[in-house]
Amino acid sequence: MKNIDLDNLPKHIGIIMDGNGRWAKKRFLPRLAGHKEGMKRVIDIVEKSCRLGIKTLTLYAFSTENWKRPKEEVNGLMDILVVYINSQLKRILENNIIFRVIGDYSKLPKPVVKLLDDSIEKSKNNSGMVLNIALNYGGRSEIIFSIKTLVNDIVNNKISLNNLNEENFKDYLYTKENSDVDLIIRTGGEKRISNFMLYQLAYSEFYFTDILWPEFSENDLCDAIFDFQNRNRRFGGV
Ligand code: FPP
Repeated sequence: MKNIDLDNLPKHIGIIMDGNGRWAKKRFLPRLAGHKEGMKRVIDIVEKSCRLGIKTLTLYAFSTENWKRPKEEVNGLMDILVVYINSQLKRILENNIIFRVIGDYSKLPKPVVKLLDDSIEKSKNNSGMVLNIALNYGGRSEIIFSIKTLVNDIVNNKISLNNLNEENFKDYLYTKENSDVDLIIRTGGEKRISNFMLYQLAYSEFYFTDILWPEFSENDLCDAIFDFQNRNRRFGGV
């Protein structure tokens, strides 16, 4: 295991958890078996991130485009989300984690929305790591949502157009209380961003790995952080 510097951690890590389907296919299993195994890695990675002292972890669980998948897979993913929350909420609360959702999750099935709202409410006074689950999330739709809210605030004189800048625009994003994402990890071998945190990634470091999400271990997370710590981030300077 690589020796990571605990004083130089990425504040905000985003993960595109890809490769569940291929993991299952390799084993002649249905795709949902891959998602179920992927849920176990969510449990491991949340625990590890929390123990390391990561401030914000954002997991891309269901995109605005994922509705195009067969109904059975979409329903199965919702069920897995419910199993995850029902089995982990106690642990999340014990670990002082603030549970949040980014994305328009109101479009999810009603019982799921209720469970998410309850979990958000129960954890809102915690003060530890923020765990954002991206559900019905798309970076473009987030920007449009932000602009709509912003225009509304301009019309109601809550902010003047002249005062709008890059910093206060962030207050309109789903991630308004989080810092920009420092490190984006994508598992599963593809090298693309798939509509994930488009505004927040302006100065992110990217870490692409061929490891399929159901095989992504705590050590692999440490490898990604180690790699991040050995990059030279200049933010446009010299
Ligand atoms: C992408 O793999 C993965 C998803 C669309 C879903 C991610 C969901 C989980 C890891 C399950 C649990 C999540 C939570 C938050 C409890 P893919 O299906 O596109 O894989 P493929 O590219 O190999 O087909």
